[in-house]
Amino acid sequence: MDKELTIKYQEYDSIAELNSADQELMQQAIKATEGAYAPYSHFKVGAALRLSDGTVVTGANQENAAYPSGLCAERTAIFAASAQRPNCRDYESLAIVGCNAEGQLCEASPCGACRQVLLEYEQQQKHGLRVLCLLGNSRVREVKSIASLLPFSFEF
Ligand code: THU
Repeated sequence: MDKELTIKYQEYDSIAELNSADQELMQQAIKATEGAYAPYSHFKVGAALRLSDGTVVTGANQENAAYPSGLCAERTAIFAASAQRPNCRDYESLAIVGCNAEGQLCEASPCGACRQVLLEYEQQQKHGLRVLCLLGNSRVREVKSIASLLPFSFEF
């Protein structure tokens, strides 16, 4: 029997359409790209994770000559947040932006490994982890829960 899955998401025409807290979060993700270490791909990614108490933890991708040793911005951010506040599982929103070799902001949607990691933290809290991705031309895509980006996920 064929079955079908639908993903619900929102799109905004520009960052200016977001509420002020989300605009600020997006700006923090843009600023976070400056912390990227990306000498191999020249693609910088910034992530800004807001906790429910308003605290924001940022991350940026960190590459390495031994390529698989590097880490994406999203995991850098959420691992830092978890390490700093091990008992806090109250991650509310994550903003993600990419910046190409020409310095232009562009889309960065979380990779499969990041989705898996983000989902595990989301499953430990009562509410969804919202994900806001900046698309190339200032548009923003939002999903209300990382679970919607990883159907049929691995669970242990
Ligand atoms: N990257 C991220 O940091 N986040 C993503 O969502 C996708 C990819 C990084 C990994 C690598 O340093 C560079 O972008 C190019 O793949």
